[in-house]
Amino acid sequence: MRRLTPEAVRFLSGPAAQAELAALAEGPLDPLTTLAALRKRWSADEAAWLYDQVRLRRKARAKFPQADALLFEAEALEQASAGPMARWRAEHVFAPYARVADLGAGIGGDALALALVGKRVLAVERDPVRAALLEHNAAALGLADRLRVVRADWRTLELDVEAAFADPARRSGGRRTVRLDAMEPPLSDLERLSGRLPAVAVKLAPALDKAELPARAGLGFVSLAGELKEALAGFGELAAPEPWAAVLPAGVRLSGPEGPERTGPVGACLYEPDPAVIRAGLVRRLAAELDAWQLDPQVAYLSADAPRSTPLARGWRVLEHGPFRQKAVAAWLAAHGAGAVEVKRRRSPIEPAVLEKKLKAALARGGPTLTLFLTRIAGRPWAVLGRPL
Ligand SMILES: C[S@@+](CC[C@H](N)C(=O)[O-])C[C@H]1O[C@@H](n2cnc3c(N)ncnc32)[C@H](O)[C@@H]1O
Repeated sequence: MRRLTPEAVRFLSGPAAQAELAALAEGPLDPLTTLAALRKRWSADEAAWLYDQVRLRRKARAKFPQADALLFEAEALEQASAGPMARWRAEHVFAPYARVADLGAGIGGDALALALVGKRVLAVERDPVRAALLEHNAAALGLADRLRVVRADWRTLELDVEAAFADPARRSGGRRTVRLDAMEPPLSDLERLSGRLPAVAVKLAPALDKAELPARAGLGFVSLAGELKEALAGFGELAAPEPWAAVLPAGVRLSGPEGPERTGPVGACLYEPDPAVIRAGLVRRLAAELDAWQLDPQVAYLSADAPRSTPLARGWRVLEHGPFRQKAVAAWLAAHGAGAVEVKRRRSPIEPAVLEKKLKAALARGGPTLTLFLTRIAGRPWAVLGRPL
C-alpha cells in the first residue's frame, strides 16, 4: 500500500478521482492490469492511491453500509467499529444526548454513526490523514453541517458537549493489548475527563481484566450475531450501577443484580446463554427471567421445563441425557436418525472436533443436525443431546 498523505486525500476527494473510483467499484481487480491501466491516466502515486482505495472500499463494505462513498486508510479501517455496533451505541447508549464528542475518531466508524442518528458531533482526531479522510467522509454523507472534525489531541481542548465517546487504540508497541493503561490514550485520561463532562463511554476489548477498571465505572458487554464483540465502560451518567449485557442485532439488554443460585437436573430444554450475558456475569439473572436453573453452579448451561424464545440465549429441546459414554452417545444419535452432530462443551476436556469425527459412523444420510453438549454435573462428566428449539 502507498502511504497516504493529506495531499493524497485532497486528490482522492476530487471529482476526477471519485469518478475513477466509482468506475472501478465492481468487476475484477488485477494488481498488474488495473494498475497499468491507471498509470496511463494518472501519475504513479495517484494510480497507487486509487488502486489501494478501490481495494479498501470493497473490504470496507463489511463494516460500512455506505463504503462506496467513503475514503479509507488500511489500519484505520481495521480499527473502525462495525456498522451495527456503532449504530446501536449511537441510538441507545447516547440516546439522551444531543451534542457528543468522539475522542480519537479515526476515519469515523462511530462519529458518522452518531451524526447519522441526528447528533451534533465533535470528532477529534490527531492524525492529519485520518482527520482529512473523516472530513471527506462526513461531507460525502451530507453530514458536514452536523459533524465537525478537529485535528488535535483532545486532551488539549475545551469540550463543549454533553457526552463523550472514546474508542482508544489497543495497539501498544505494535502489539495488541487489553491492558487499560497501555491503550492510546490510557483509560486514566478518560476517567479524568469524566470529572468535567456529565457522561463518558469508552469502548474496550471484551477480554479486559475487570479488576483494572475504576470502581466508579459501569461496565457492559455487547455481542453481535452470537459473537462477543466489545465491552463498554461508562462514567458519570453512563455508569450503570449494575453490570449489563446487550445482544445485537435484536438490541435486547439484560442487567443485574445477579439472581439467586438455583441448580437442578436436566429438564425439557437446555439453554446456552449469549456470550455477552456470560461475560457480564448475568447467567443466574437470565435463569430467573427464563424460569430456568443451572445444571451445575460452575457451568453456564441452563435448563427449564417450558421452552421460551429469547435472543439472550440459544435453546435446544433435550432428546437424551446421561453420564458421558461414547458408545451410549453413538446409540442416541442412531436412535434419533441424526445426519450430523455438533459437539459443544463447558468444563469437559474432550476436544469437540475429535469426538465429532469418532461419532461419524453413527450418523444417517439426510438426517437433522443435532447438538451434543459435554459438561460436568456435580463433578461427573455428563452428556446432553438436543435439537434446536
Ligand atoms: C481505534 S481508533 C478509533 C476508531 C473509530 N472509533 C472508528 O470506528 O473508526 C483510535 C483513534 O484515536 C486517535 N487518538 C488516539 N489518541 C488521541 C488523542 N489523544 N487525541 C486525538 N486522537 C487520538 C488515533 O489516532 C486513532 O485514529
